[in-house]
Amino acid sequence: CGIVGYVGAKSAQDVVIEGLRRLEYRGYDSAGIALVCDGALAADKRAGKLANLESAIAEHPLPSSTIGIGHTRWATHGAPNDVNAHPHLGAQRRVALVHNGIIENYAELRRELENSGAELLSETDTEIAAQLLEGELASGNGLTAAMTAVCRRLEGAFTLVAVDAEDPDRVVAARRNSPLVVGLGEGENFLGSDVAAFIEHTRNALELGQDQVVTITRDGVEISDFDGNPAQGKEYHVDWDLAAAEKDGHDWFMRKEIFEQPESVAAALLGRHTERGQLMLDEVRIDDEALRDIDRIIVVGCGTAAYAGQVAKYAIEHWTRIPVEVELAHEFRYRDPILTRNTLVVAISQSGETADTLMAIRHARAQRAKVLAICNTNGATIPRESDAVIYTHAGPEIGVASTKGFLTQMVACYLLGLYLAQLRGTKFGDEIAAVVRDLDRIPAQVQQVLDGAQQVYDLAQELLDAKVVLFLGRHAGYPVAMEGALKLKELAYIHAEGFAAGELKHGPIALIEPGLPVFCVVPPRGRDQLHDKMVSAIQEIRARGARTIVLAEAGDTTVADVADELIELPQVPVLLQPLVATVPLQLFACELATLMGHDVDQPRNLAKSVTVE
Ligand code: G6P
Repeated sequence: CGIVGYVGAKSAQDVVIEGLRRLEYRGYDSAGIALVCDGALAADKRAGKLANLESAIAEHPLPSSTIGIGHTRWATHGAPNDVNAHPHLGAQRRVALVHNGIIENYAELRRELENSGAELLSETDTEIAAQLLEGELASGNGLTAAMTAVCRRLEGAFTLVAVDAEDPDRVVAARRNSPLVVGLGEGENFLGSDVAAFIEHTRNALELGQDQVVTITRDGVEISDFDGNPAQGKEYHVDWDLAAAEKDGHDWFMRKEIFEQPESVAAALLGRHTERGQLMLDEVRIDDEALRDIDRIIVVGCGTAAYAGQVAKYAIEHWTRIPVEVELAHEFRYRDPILTRNTLVVAISQSGETADTLMAIRHARAQRAKVLAICNTNGATIPRESDAVIYTHAGPEIGVASTKGFLTQMVACYLLGLYLAQLRGTKFGDEIAAVVRDLDRIPAQVQQVLDGAQQVYDLAQELLDAKVVLFLGRHAGYPVAMEGALKLKELAYIHAEGFAAGELKHGPIALIEPGLPVFCVVPPRGRDQLHDKMVSAIQEIRARGARTIVLAEAGDTTVADVADELIELPQVPVLLQPLVATVPLQLFACELATLMGHDVDQPRNLAKSVTVE
């Protein structure tokens, strides 16, 4: 979501709307604004793009004001309609609040409010926070103290920004695991999800720490922690232009999205398991009995989404012992697949609009199979037409080639697999909890891989003249190899192919010639022979002159001799390795295409969502 806050001398409406326009790439399900004017709140909010809000305001103008907040939404809780749009007002219309993130203990807080007689208008977790905040104000606290008190009660990840009808001088915000920056002006100050919100007014910004509350007035900024102790922000100067600001300083949305992956993976995991590692997938609204009866799973998708499905097959079969097939969505219905009411069709689609995938689920439902969508876009057609949906919560993906979409699709598949294993008792609780702990470590491990981006960029420079690039993997690393090749085809227009390493000797090895670059994804060392067999395959191609770029876990000393270039990966279990092993391949394709002078965000002939069959 995109968030803006302003207090100063200018028209708050103009500043907020302009800021929202700059942030619209962060979400465009709905938009809203609230201003403080003569001791009252004036607010409007509309489903759909910002333009809908703008025409509503043009028809029913808001009073003039120099303090306000705004929001452009990427729905998580509740459908993207007018009621669920932000800002949310407290029952007394004293507080207006916008929010980004997910309040995890929302159900508990909602019950508490309802028991004390509160009436809630929306399905959102945000309204809960607005009501709590108003309660604190009613008991005599100022807005800053009220915000601090409320934050202490919230669990999860959130950015909150609020105004109080009775206080025309301050906007108060808070953040935990969710972005918020302050823009420092002369006689005016700003809040934004990122600097794009205010870059045309000021380039002086203040970075906030974790778990901080910030109060902006016309003349100053005050920061505290959630206990009210004073804290400091870090000032910095933004020297980007407007376009770069929207991309957070990156040259491409794709690169920004690659670097957002630690955050996206964390968001996909958020609120979906207890501290003790028990899965909570309330959104899977297929009843437990029906899920226990599932005797076959068919995963459908296209492009990158289909590769996420291939990874899912390894994990879900292993954990649940339910047979899993993966099929390209456009092939699925034409072969007249065998489907029963005990078949679960899992449709993976970032956009939720891919026509091939949509037609596949329509066919599946007509045959009475159950359909579960894994999707990044709230309210899109595929989730709407499915029996259940797991949203990936990656935030809008703008680069055509999917990156954070892919990682979060895999996370959703892992969660589904573990949930089914929990429900059907095919794994012990402590085994599931151990995998959940491994998953929780992934965001930091993806960050480690990103910290090593320079090595991959240097490699792209060296391989600038490559005409063909091959990728090898085994087990869960096989789909990673295919995804690495797809990225290169999509972005660099290079002939690239991903192979299962074991298949090499049955044909593809004939392609190997001196100097040919081959990326090799090596499984972690384990009890089986997967790892050693992969190393042998690398030896075979190297003996024939291939230039080997080996991705292997840190500390694996067996690969040094077979690697012309070694990219170290964090240590993770084999089934989760795709989450870290894919990242260097994304970085490589993005960098190589950039060096070649291609448009990375909009590669030739492709579209972000293909809505024709
Ligand atoms: C298009 C895009 C691919 C994407 C595929 C599936 O072909 O170019 O990058 O993987 O669609 O998209 P979906 O939105 O269904 O995940």
